[in-house]
Amino acid sequence: MSWDRQITIKSAEELKIMREAGRINAEALAAVRSIIRPGVTTADLNAAAEEVHRKYGVYSPFKNYPGPYPYPASICASVNEELVHGIPGKRKLKEGDIVSVDCGTVYEGFVGDSAFTAGVGEISETARKLLEVTEASLYAGIEKMVAGNRVGDISAAIQHYVESRGLHVVREYTGHGVGRQMHEGPQVPNYGSPGKGMLLRNGLTIALEPMVLVGTPATRVSPDQWTVCSLDGSLTAHFEHTVAITEAGPVILTALED
Ligand code: MF3
Ligand code: CO
Repeated sequence: MSWDRQITIKSAEELKIMREAGRINAEALAAVRSIIRPGVTTADLNAAAEEVHRKYGVYSPFKNYPGPYPYPASICASVNEELVHGIPGKRKLKEGDIVSVDCGTVYEGFVGDSAFTAGVGEISETARKLLEVTEASLYAGIEKMVAGNRVGDISAAIQHYVESRGLHVVREYTGHGVGRQMHEGPQVPNYGSPGKGMLLRNGLTIALEPMVLVGTPATRVSPDQWTVCSLDGSLTAHFEHTVAITEAGPVILTALED
Protein backbone atom coordinates (compact mmCIF):
# COMPACT_ATOMS: atom_id res chain seq x y z
CA MET A 1 0.00 0.00 0.00
CA SER A 2 1.42 3.40 -0.95
CA TRP A 3 1.25 5.81 1.96
CA ASP A 4 2.70 9.03 0.56
CA ARG A 5 -0.95 9.88 0.03
CA GLN A 6 -2.50 13.25 -0.49
CA ILE A 7 -3.67 15.33 2.44
CA THR A 8 -6.87 17.27 1.70
CA ILE A 9 -8.58 20.08 3.64
CA LYS A 10 -12.38 20.02 3.41
CA SER A 11 -14.64 23.06 3.11
CA ALA A 12 -17.71 23.47 5.34
CA GLU A 13 -19.81 22.34 2.35
CA GLU A 14 -17.73 19.19 1.90
CA LEU A 15 -17.94 18.44 5.63
CA LYS A 16 -21.74 18.49 5.35
CA ILE A 17 -21.57 15.85 2.62
CA MET A 18 -19.12 13.79 4.70
CA ARG A 19 -21.47 14.01 7.66
CA GLU A 20 -24.24 12.52 5.55
CA ALA A 21 -21.89 9.77 4.29
CA GLY A 22 -21.01 9.09 7.92
CA ARG A 23 -24.63 9.11 9.07
CA ILE A 24 -25.65 6.58 6.44
CA ASN A 25 -22.62 4.50 7.41
CA ALA A 26 -23.75 4.63 11.04
CA GLU A 27 -27.19 3.44 9.99
CA ALA A 28 -25.61 0.51 8.13
CA LEU A 29 -23.54 -0.39 11.21
CA ALA A 30 -26.61 -0.09 13.46
CA ALA A 31 -28.48 -2.48 11.16
CA VAL A 32 -25.60 -4.94 11.43
CA ARG A 33 -25.42 -4.59 15.20
CA SER A 34 -29.14 -5.26 15.56
CA ILE A 35 -28.87 -8.76 14.06
CA ILE A 36 -25.76 -9.95 15.92
CA ARG A 37 -26.64 -13.11 17.83
CA PRO A 38 -25.58 -16.79 17.94
CA GLY A 39 -26.31 -18.57 14.65
CA VAL A 40 -26.07 -15.51 12.40
CA THR A 41 -23.38 -15.77 9.68
CA THR A 42 -20.90 -13.04 8.85
CA ALA A 43 -22.44 -13.03 5.34
CA ASP A 44 -25.75 -12.10 7.02
CA LEU A 45 -23.97 -9.10 8.59
CA ASN A 46 -22.73 -8.04 5.16
CA ALA A 47 -26.25 -8.35 3.73
CA ALA A 48 -27.68 -6.15 6.50
CA ALA A 49 -25.21 -3.36 5.66
CA GLU A 50 -25.87 -3.70 1.93
CA GLU A 51 -29.62 -3.41 2.50
CA VAL A 52 -29.10 0.05 4.04
CA HIS A 53 -26.74 1.02 1.22
CA ARG A 54 -29.36 -0.03 -1.35
CA LYS A 55 -32.02 2.06 0.39
CA TYR A 56 -29.87 5.19 -0.09
CA GLY A 57 -28.44 4.23 -3.51
CA VAL A 58 -24.91 4.29 -2.12
CA TYR A 59 -22.11 1.71 -1.95
CA SER A 60 -19.14 0.60 0.09
CA PRO A 61 -15.62 1.67 -0.89
CA PHE A 62 -14.42 -1.69 0.46
CA LYS A 63 -16.03 -3.60 -2.45
CA ASN A 64 -13.27 -4.39 -4.97
CA TYR A 65 -10.69 -2.43 -2.97
CA PRO A 66 -7.29 -3.35 -4.46
CA GLY A 67 -5.21 -5.87 -2.52
CA PRO A 68 -3.91 -9.40 -3.05
CA TYR A 69 -7.21 -9.72 -4.96
CA PRO A 70 -10.10 -7.23 -5.04
CA TYR A 71 -11.84 -7.14 -1.64
CA PRO A 72 -15.02 -9.19 -2.16
CA ALA A 73 -17.53 -7.62 0.29
CA SER A 74 -19.04 -4.37 1.60
CA ILE A 75 -17.94 -4.85 5.21
CA CYS A 76 -15.14 -6.57 7.07
CA ALA A 77 -16.28 -9.02 9.78
CA SER A 78 -13.44 -10.20 12.00
CA VAL A 79 -14.11 -12.75 14.76
CA ASN A 80 -12.10 -13.21 18.00
CA GLU A 81 -8.37 -13.45 17.05
CA GLU A 82 -9.19 -11.87 13.68
CA LEU A 83 -8.19 -8.22 14.07
CA VAL A 84 -9.27 -6.60 10.79
CA HIS A 85 -10.19 -7.34 7.15
CA GLY A 86 -12.09 -10.58 7.86
CA ILE A 87 -14.10 -11.57 4.78
CA PRO A 88 -17.81 -12.23 5.43
CA GLY A 89 -18.91 -15.78 4.68
CA LYS A 90 -20.64 -18.89 5.99
CA ARG A 91 -19.07 -18.75 9.47
CA LYS A 92 -21.75 -18.72 12.15
CA LEU A 93 -21.30 -16.51 15.19
CA LYS A 94 -21.52 -18.38 18.47
CA GLU A 95 -22.18 -17.43 22.08
CA GLY A 96 -19.05 -15.86 23.60
CA ASP A 97 -17.52 -14.69 20.29
CA ILE A 98 -16.61 -11.07 19.71
CA VAL A 99 -17.03 -9.71 16.19
CA SER A 100 -15.48 -6.56 14.71
CA VAL A 101 -17.55 -4.98 11.96
CA ASP A 102 -15.93 -2.36 9.73
CA CYS A 103 -18.02 -0.57 7.12
CA GLY A 104 -17.53 2.24 4.63
CA THR A 105 -19.99 4.35 2.67
CA VAL A 106 -19.47 6.53 -0.40
CA TYR A 107 -22.08 9.30 -0.63
CA GLU A 108 -21.84 12.05 -3.28
CA GLY A 109 -18.20 11.15 -3.80
CA PHE A 110 -17.13 11.27 -0.14
CA VAL A 111 -16.29 8.40 2.21
CA GLY A 112 -17.41 7.59 5.75
CA ASP A 113 -15.43 4.83 7.48
CA SER A 114 -16.28 3.36 10.89
CA ALA A 115 -16.05 0.15 12.91
CA PHE A 116 -17.13 -1.40 16.20
CA THR A 117 -16.59 -4.65 18.06
CA ALA A 118 -19.51 -6.35 19.82
CA GLY A 119 -20.01 -9.44 21.92
CA VAL A 120 -22.23 -12.33 20.81
CA GLY A 121 -24.40 -13.21 23.81
CA GLU A 122 -22.47 -13.54 27.07
CA ILE A 123 -18.74 -12.86 26.73
CA SER A 124 -15.75 -13.41 29.01
CA GLU A 125 -14.45 -10.80 31.43
CA THR A 126 -11.27 -10.50 29.29
CA ALA A 127 -13.35 -9.83 26.19
CA ARG A 128 -15.52 -7.29 27.98
CA LYS A 129 -12.49 -5.37 29.20
CA LEU A 130 -10.90 -5.51 25.72
CA LEU A 131 -14.00 -3.95 24.14
CA GLU A 132 -14.31 -1.30 26.83
CA VAL A 133 -10.63 -0.26 26.65
CA THR A 134 -10.48 -0.25 22.84
CA GLU A 135 -13.59 1.93 22.49
CA ALA A 136 -12.45 4.33 25.21
CA SER A 137 -9.00 4.61 23.57
CA LEU A 138 -10.72 5.82 20.40
CA TYR A 139 -12.31 8.66 22.40
CA ALA A 140 -8.98 9.40 24.12
CA GLY A 141 -7.52 9.87 20.62
CA ILE A 142 -10.45 11.94 19.35
CA GLU A 143 -10.00 14.37 22.27
CA LYS A 144 -6.57 15.26 20.88
CA MET A 145 -7.94 16.06 17.42
CA VAL A 146 -7.71 19.82 17.65
CA ALA A 147 -5.85 22.28 15.42
CA GLY A 148 -2.39 23.02 16.80
CA ASN A 149 -1.88 19.49 18.12
CA ARG A 150 0.18 17.02 16.11
CA VAL A 151 -0.52 13.50 14.82
CA GLY A 152 1.78 12.14 17.55
CA ASP A 153 -0.48 13.63 20.24
CA ILE A 154 -3.38 11.50 18.97
CA SER A 155 -1.21 8.39 18.58
CA ALA A 156 0.37 8.71 22.01
CA ALA A 157 -3.01 9.19 23.71
CA ILE A 158 -4.32 5.93 22.21
CA GLN A 159 -1.14 4.01 22.99
CA HIS A 160 -1.00 5.26 26.58
CA TYR A 161 -4.66 4.50 27.23
CA VAL A 162 -4.31 0.93 25.93
CA GLU A 163 -0.89 -0.01 27.29
CA SER A 164 -1.50 1.40 30.77
CA ARG A 165 -4.37 -1.11 30.96
CA GLY A 166 -2.17 -4.05 30.02
CA LEU A 167 -3.27 -4.40 26.38
CA HIS A 168 -1.38 -3.88 23.10
CA VAL A 169 -1.75 -1.71 19.99
CA VAL A 170 -1.05 -2.98 16.49
CA ARG A 171 1.97 -1.60 14.66
CA GLU A 172 1.37 -2.68 11.04
CA TYR A 173 -2.01 -0.96 10.47
CA THR A 174 -2.96 2.66 11.08
CA GLY A 175 -5.68 5.25 10.94
CA HIS A 176 -5.71 7.54 7.93
CA GLY A 177 -6.96 10.71 6.32
CA VAL A 178 -10.26 10.17 4.51
CA GLY A 179 -12.22 12.19 1.95
CA ARG A 180 -12.92 11.47 -1.71
CA GLN A 181 -10.47 8.60 -1.19
CA MET A 182 -10.90 6.09 1.63
CA HIS A 183 -7.17 6.30 2.32
CA GLU A 184 -5.64 9.76 2.25
CA GLY A 185 -2.78 11.23 4.26
CA PRO A 186 -1.84 11.56 7.01
CA GLN A 187 -1.27 8.09 8.41
CA VAL A 188 -2.26 8.05 12.09
CA PRO A 189 -0.61 5.19 13.98
CA ASN A 190 -2.00 3.92 17.27
CA TYR A 191 1.41 4.48 18.87
CA GLY A 192 3.73 7.48 18.90
CA SER A 193 5.18 10.44 20.75
CA PRO A 194 3.44 13.64 21.88
CA GLY A 195 4.52 16.74 19.94
CA LYS A 196 5.78 14.72 16.94
CA GLY A 197 4.37 14.34 13.44
CA MET A 198 2.19 16.47 11.20
CA LEU A 199 0.53 19.59 12.57
CA LEU A 200 -3.28 19.24 12.68
CA ARG A 201 -5.40 21.84 10.84
CA ASN A 202 -9.10 22.61 10.75
CA GLY A 203 -10.80 20.90 7.79
CA LEU A 204 -8.72 17.72 8.11
CA THR A 205 -10.82 14.55 8.29
CA ILE A 206 -9.28 11.46 9.80
CA ALA A 207 -10.46 7.88 10.27
CA LEU A 208 -9.04 7.05 13.67
CA GLU A 209 -9.00 3.33 14.35
CA PRO A 210 -7.41 1.74 17.41
CA MET A 211 -6.77 -1.97 16.84
CA VAL A 212 -6.02 -3.69 20.14
CA LEU A 213 -4.69 -7.14 21.04
CA VAL A 214 -4.77 -8.98 24.36
CA GLY A 215 -1.55 -10.99 24.00
CA THR A 216 1.18 -9.19 22.05
CA PRO A 217 1.15 -6.57 19.24
CA ALA A 218 2.23 -9.14 16.64
CA THR A 219 -0.06 -10.09 13.74
CA ARG A 220 -0.11 -12.46 10.77
CA VAL A 221 -2.16 -12.51 7.57
CA SER A 222 -4.29 -15.64 7.17
CA PRO A 223 -4.16 -17.88 4.06
CA ASP A 224 -7.11 -15.98 2.51
CA GLN A 225 -4.55 -13.14 2.16
CA TRP A 226 -6.89 -10.50 3.64
CA THR A 227 -7.76 -11.49 7.20
CA VAL A 228 -5.30 -10.12 9.76
CA CYS A 229 -5.07 -12.19 12.98
CA SER A 230 -3.18 -11.90 16.24
CA LEU A 231 -0.04 -14.01 15.87
CA ASP A 232 -0.62 -15.69 19.25
CA GLY A 233 -4.34 -16.33 18.67
CA SER A 234 -5.36 -13.94 21.46
CA LEU A 235 -8.54 -11.85 21.29
CA THR A 236 -8.55 -8.54 19.38
CA ALA A 237 -10.85 -5.53 18.96
CA HIS A 238 -11.26 -2.58 16.60
CA PHE A 239 -13.22 0.67 16.93
CA GLU A 240 -13.16 3.42 14.29
CA HIS A 241 -14.76 6.79 13.61
CA THR A 242 -14.30 9.31 10.84
CA VAL A 243 -13.67 12.61 12.63
CA ALA A 244 -13.37 16.22 11.37
CA ILE A 245 -11.01 18.70 13.01
CA THR A 246 -12.93 21.98 13.23
CA GLU A 247 -12.79 25.36 14.95
CA ALA A 248 -15.45 24.02 17.32
CA GLY A 249 -13.33 20.95 18.13
CA PRO A 250 -13.49 17.36 16.90
CA VAL A 251 -16.75 16.38 15.16
CA ILE A 252 -17.55 12.67 14.80
CA LEU A 253 -18.86 12.37 11.24
CA THR A 254 -19.82 8.69 11.60
CA ALA A 255 -22.11 9.16 14.62
CA LEU A 256 -25.72 8.07 14.16
CA GLU A 257 -27.03 11.29 15.71
CA ASP A 258 -25.48 14.74 16.30
N1 MF3 B 1 -11.65 0.61 7.57
C1 MF3 B 1 -10.67 -0.18 6.89
C2 MF3 B 1 -9.50 0.72 6.61
O1 MF3 B 1 -9.53 1.80 7.03
C3 MF3 B 1 -11.27 -0.94 5.81
C4 MF3 B 1 -10.58 -1.16 4.53
S1 MF3 B 1 -10.52 -2.77 4.21
C5 MF3 B 1 -10.94 -3.06 2.61
O2 MF3 B 1 -8.49 0.37 6.04
F1 MF3 B 1 -11.87 -3.90 2.62
F2 MF3 B 1 -11.35 -1.99 2.00
F3 MF3 B 1 -9.92 -3.47 2.01
CO1 CO C 1 -10.30 3.01 8.14
